[in-house]
Amino acid sequence: MIRARGLRKVFGHRVRALDGLDLNVPSGAIYGFIGQNGAGKTTTIRTFATLLTPDAGEAFVADLDVIHKPGEVRHLVGYMPDFFGVYDDLKVDEYLDFYALLHGMRGRRIASLRDDLLELVDLTTKRNDYVEALSRGMQQRLCLARALIHDPQVLLLDEPASGLDPIARVEMRGLLRELGRIGKTILISSHILSELTDLCTHVGIVANGKMLREGPLADVLWALERPGFFVRVLADPERAAEVLETMPGAGAVEIDPDGSTVRFRSWRGVSQHLRPTGRPHKPTGRPRRPTGRPGRPTLRQLRQTR
Ligand SMILES: Nc1ncnc2c1ncn2[C@@H]1O[C@H](COP(=O)(O)OP(=O)(O)OP(=O)(O)O)[C@@H](O)[C@H]1O
Ligand SMILES: [Mg+2]
Repeated sequence: MIRARGLRKVFGHRVRALDGLDLNVPSGAIYGFIGQNGAGKTTTIRTFATLLTPDAGEAFVADLDVIHKPGEVRHLVGYMPDFFGVYDDLKVDEYLDFYALLHGMRGRRIASLRDDLLELVDLTTKRNDYVEALSRGMQQRLCLARALIHDPQVLLLDEPASGLDPIARVEMRGLLRELGRIGKTILISSHILSELTDLCTHVGIVANGKMLREGPLADVLWALERPGFFVRVLADPERAAEVLETMPGAGAVEIDPDGSTVRFRSWRGVSQHLRPTGRPHKPTGRPRRPTGRPGRPTLRQLRQTR
């Protein structure tokens, strides 16, 4: 539903915000887009929201080219920015009416849609309050309602939980889960993977403008949780990688570009994989996945295992 290939964006002469980023969000997924400050999350999301043109690469929403068909893409996409400016002297219901008008709605349809959305984000009692007088959490919820005003198939939410207290975070997650249940495809950015593990179906980890790892939540957690090892090889790194790939419990085998090192992840220690002769032991089947609920690694753990 949302995909990008080789996205590049350079700001000024030196800041490579996106450096060949690939991304793939299946239809109906709740996709956690995880990365540290400056990783490139907002730049990616703004690209899909048609607010920013990449220098290279391609991006699609529902097979529509984001760069060449921005008008059509905007109908499909609801965007919640990381910071949202509020207009002075505008009340909550006027704010939503204003955006409904911008999306071409007219007449009674606006009032009923606005009422439904206010109920959904639990702001019905605040409808006559000024937007700037709402608390941060309420403003975030209003912004989500605004993103939903044209009933888009796809939601792009840039750190919707930032600045919220723990209870408001739980409420926001509940709201997003509801939206997932009614079939929206949701891309949601965050710094912290553990915040999203009970919400997301898929995860992408971004760093320095590149996708490090992406896929169904359980697969990504499985890969991240296993300790990482590396073996320096004197010759034939491809053969070493082949051998490691057959080892039960080992996976994510990669050869460094200079061919000197083979990296892999495993539940077991290196010594249990490598024999003094360097000869492989007989493969005993494909690596099995652990059963049970996956844990919740943090970005710090990710850094340590890389
Ligand atoms: N308009 C801009 N002008 C110059 N540099 C920019 C601009 N927007 C982003 N950058 C740079 O691009 C890089 C990626 O920024 P981006 O905002 O996409 O990161 P992020 O992952 O959203 O970070 P955060 O978690 O802090 O929101 C950073 O180095 C940032 O300084
Ligand atoms: Mg950002």
